[in-house]
Amino acid sequence: MDLGCGTGLVGEALYASGFTQLDGLDPSQGMLDVARSKGIYGELYCAYVALGDEKLAIPDNTYDGLTICGSMGVNMVPPEGIYEMHRLVKPGGIIVNVVRQETVNEIEGFKDRLEPMMEQMEKDGKWKLVSRVLFPDYLVDQGGVIFTHQVC
Ligand SMILES: C[S@@+](CC[C@H](N)C(=O)[O-])C[C@H]1O[C@@H](n2cnc3c(N)ncnc32)[C@H](O)[C@@H]1O
Repeated sequence: MDLGCGTGLVGEALYASGFTQLDGLDPSQGMLDVARSKGIYGELYCAYVALGDEKLAIPDNTYDGLTICGSMGVNMVPPEGIYEMHRLVKPGGIIVNVVRQETVNEIEGFKDRLEPMMEQMEKDGKWKLVSRVLFPDYLVDQGGVIFTHQVC
């Protein structure tokens, strides 16, 4: 699952790396139309991860892996979205979440929340942190963080 797939930039890179069974999800039909035109996705869901208890119309444990790149932040996927990500992935599966460092460290609603929520999920035995990698120049002069978790 490529969550918040937009026009499919990440999907293209994944497909080229051999991940040829890909679904995507995004609330923008216009973006999904572009993603569809690339011919690399199976299902493309026009939906959004909501704040609160609302679940996506996708069963638990559907995917071997899930990526979300640049789609967590203000007015996008909220911190609580990690619960939906976790729900969609099978035990043993991998979740890769790429977020701006600024979002993780400075933005209200995310700083002091996103990482503690991730850590609490680890304490609750839901997933394990595989790696937390910082990288520069994610967006103009801003760095990014790549969180990789394995579902328990
Ligand atoms: C910066 S774009 C990144 C797109 C793509 N992942 C990429 O790297 O090219 C953020 C995407 O998140 C989507 N998005 C925003 N809010 C969302 C939500 N609540 N649930 C799912 N996707 C959302 C937007 O429609 C947009 O396509």
